[in-house]
Amino acid sequence: MRISDQLCYNSTAIAYIVVLMPGIVRLEPSDQEFRVDGNDSILDAALQAGVPLNYGCSNGNCGLCRARLVSGEVRKISHHDFVLGEAEKSMGHVLLCSYTADGDVVIEVADSAVIPEQTINARVKKLTPLTSDVVLLHLQTPRTQRLRFLAGQSVRLELDNQVSATHPVASCPCDDRNIQFHIRVIADDAFSRQVTTLKPTGAVQITGPFGEFTLNDDSRRSIFFLAFNTGFAPIKSLIEHAMQLEQSEHLQLYWIVESEGAHYMHNLVRSWLDVFDSFSYTPLTAADLCPQVNVAAGLQDDAWQDVSRALLRQISTKHENVNDCDFYVAGPDAVAGAARDFLASNNFPTEQFKSLSIT
Ligand code: FES
Repeated sequence: MRISDQLCYNSTAIAYIVVLMPGIVRLEPSDQEFRVDGNDSILDAALQAGVPLNYGCSNGNCGLCRARLVSGEVRKISHHDFVLGEAEKSMGHVLLCSYTADGDVVIEVADSAVIPEQTINARVKKLTPLTSDVVLLHLQTPRTQRLRFLAGQSVRLELDNQVSATHPVASCPCDDRNIQFHIRVIADDAFSRQVTTLKPTGAVQITGPFGEFTLNDDSRRSIFFLAFNTGFAPIKSLIEHAMQLEQSEHLQLYWIVESEGAHYMHNLVRSWLDVFDSFSYTPLTAADLCPQVNVAAGLQDDAWQDVSRALLRQISTKHENVNDCDFYVAGPDAVAGAARDFLASNNFPTEQFKSLSIT
């Protein structure tokens, strides 16, 4: 094992600081690669890079993250209670949540692409108003049962009295205990009204994940993210993932809301602009795109379709080579259909378009 040891002295003891080589982990048989720095576990580094691996507890109890070291060197960074059999150890099996890479390594994992459906009893950590009709619901899972999901996926949330609804996760899969949602409160929707009455530590059951609204990890194309209202939630999760992957030439976010002041995470998006050179952001209201729409009574399907088409026209005029980009669209049902039709009529490749309907 390559280890650089540095000595630190104090009056009573000599301590060794182990300096590990940063390394690239390559998974077999998928050939996916990600980087591990410092004392991050291989599992944490994979999750931060958006690479789905099998795991359960993240803390050495369940054994679900075990995988075989094919080449390179790893170092144990945390105690694990799960006991690997002698045969497994001799074949090079390790727990990815308890080991880090010391330089480049190759690891063989079971099929990691399929994440099983999970049911988790979570607790409310916080409920924060974002606008007059959107709340941020922050749930926390038990320490030993974390939610495995991909950026952009959704889950079903069920409250105490069995009222349930499906919502996209707004937070990063890399923080698998703290799961966030942007929920629009609608007068005739029992679930959203009841969410506003939840108290800290209140119970919410999470089931999932579901959905294919996930990044195409193989694409190196520039990406347009079109978020309408709370369609920003899954788009946020996708952008954070895309920024970690650093493989797309350019990321462009258009966030369209019904009224001024409803870009409820404007400052967060502006902070991405400061950090990522290849990111751009255009916040718009529906009236910016279609001055004739009447937002006072809430936009109906026809109006959303007009807004969606107007946005696509603006993008096509402003940007060259739109057909060489990927599109991710999240918002009311009507916007996705209108966007898909508009692009299809301009010979846009259908496989480069993904959409998610949000109430
Ligand atoms: S995830 Fe449970 S032991 Fe690693």
